[in-house]
Amino acid sequence: MRLNKFIAQAGVASRRKADELTANGNVKVNGAVVREMGYDVKEGDLVEVNGRMLGLPEKPVYIALNKPKGAITSVGDDKGRPTVMDMVADVPERIYPVGRLDYDTSGLLIMTNDGDLAQKLAHPGHKIYKTYRAKVAGVLSPERLAKLKKGVDIGGYVTAPAVVKLIKQSDRFALAEISIQEGKNRQVRKMFLSVGNKVLDLERVAIGDVYLGHLKAGHYRKLTRQEVEGLKGRL
Ligand code: URA
Repeated sequence: MRLNKFIAQAGVASRRKADELTANGNVKVNGAVVREMGYDVKEGDLVEVNGRMLGLPEKPVYIALNKPKGAITSVGDDKGRPTVMDMVADVPERIYPVGRLDYDTSGLLIMTNDGDLAQKLAHPGHKIYKTYRAKVAGVLSPERLAKLKKGVDIGGYVTAPAVVKLIKQSDRFALAEISIQEGKNRQVRKMFLSVGNKVLDLERVAIGDVYLGHLKAGHYRKLTRQEVEGLKGRL
């Protein structure tokens, strides 16, 4: 790639300005000043403009955020509501959410600048289970649990087998944990509704072996190396 194009793509200067900088000796390639405007940048070349290194890939960053209810999983919101990006504003790298959680769902959201991992995790073919804790209205009977485990029709789509555990049943509510590999729109809510239980509260507590633990709502932590390797290794 021509030097001026490389510099322009790094967002440092227009192509014309890049030529000017080059001619003036402000550009170095692999530590040496290059004044040749037609220089062809090769893979592995280290280009510096006024002492600033360009094009070095950002170091990969992996973050676990506890998304609170009432925050949007997107990079911006036209209605001015809080977004998950607001909660990681002090992370210098350009991270973005992997998948999404509904506005009214809380819990574990992984954010990264590692496009490869993000893409793999978003792909339905992977084997990573996402685990949710759901408070549902009514009685979650053994028949209903069995249906959820086997797969239910959520409006033209039959869900894959799921792992479902009843944690607690009280007079009017049940607390359950459900692990699924898919990620259809509002899938968990639709699954419970399809067997007759409306979801009142939903929290994602794990993605693979990454657990939400005691992370406070709106707070984040970095994933451990082991957690990252776990996510990558299982894909
Ligand atoms: N299932 C849902 O219904 N909502 C989510 O946010 C995630 C999974």
